[in-house]
Amino acid sequence: MSPFRLTRTLPEDTTGAALRADVHQGLTGRPKTLPPKWFYDAHGSDLFEKITELPEYYPTRAEREILLARSGDIAAATGARTLVELGSGSSEKTRHLLDALTGLHTYVPVDVSESALTQAGQALAAERPGLDVHALIADFTAELTLPDTPGPRLVAFLGGTIGNLLPAERAAFLASVRALLAPGDALLLGTDLVKDEEVLVRAYDDGAGVTAAFNKNVLTVINRELGADFEPAAFDHVAQWNAEHEWIEMRLRSRTAQTVKLPALDLAVDFTAGEEMRTEVSAKFRQEGVRAELSAAGLELAHWWTDGPGRFALSLSVA
Ligand code: AVJ
Repeated sequence: MSPFRLTRTLPEDTTGAALRADVHQGLTGRPKTLPPKWFYDAHGSDLFEKITELPEYYPTRAEREILLARSGDIAAATGARTLVELGSGSSEKTRHLLDALTGLHTYVPVDVSESALTQAGQALAAERPGLDVHALIADFTAELTLPDTPGPRLVAFLGGTIGNLLPAERAAFLASVRALLAPGDALLLGTDLVKDEEVLVRAYDDGAGVTAAFNKNVLTVINRELGADFEPAAFDHVAQWNAEHEWIEMRLRSRTAQTVKLPALDLAVDFTAGEEMRTEVSAKFRQEGVRAELSAAGLELAHWWTDGPGRFALSLSVA
């Protein structure tokens, strides 16, 4: 069994404080918004896993297809000795990459979920003798300090999660990733691509209603953590394509005029009938846009791989 270490770069109570601040800001703003990172409590993470298996939700399968086909190319192009995975979750999709990176010395999964990190990290360390696993409890949208491990480093940010950041947040995020890279290091980025509106909307409004339940789960999280009295059934799930920004927006639409109390924030929030609150953007990309955003952060696009139908892309860029 190889070494497993866990480093916490967040104080234990940071989640509660950040949730309170985000919810206060989001519910007192016009229009109301909630940031998507609060979907992922244990139940929300389960629902997300179910989403990835839905017939309508293609991104996970498309990205897996690319990783399966291209992991060897990624290994050859990077010669990585350290793999850092931002938002690693269950580390499930990383296995192809770990198999292909034959010179790998250390795997650094980074996530806010301690339970996911411990579970996935310990299993990997047990399965892969000779691989150091150094898990990091951290919010990758904030400042990151990586452990001192051998280069070259490959930083992976998969799943299209970069699309959940707004353009200014993406620019700041890519600049902070760039700052982690030395010459010879690389970034592997998963991006969902612009396609038919109908296909996109179905991926975020599935027939079985799993995405609707996932969306409403954020209300349950806020009820539990902040003592609020959101009634999930009093909201409808909305998924809409925004052609100007080229992103899918998920919203929750209040079915009636209602007032929600949030005692932990000393706040009461009024909704009008039909009022919509944005809970997620999921941006879809084109190659030229990805190239430009990388370039603005000081990164140069070196490889661009898509699945057969061109639905999803993995890009490899270098400092
Ligand atoms: C977290 C980026 C993979 O935006 O597609 C899935 C989250 N939201 N269905 C995405 C999500 C609704 C997802 N990612």
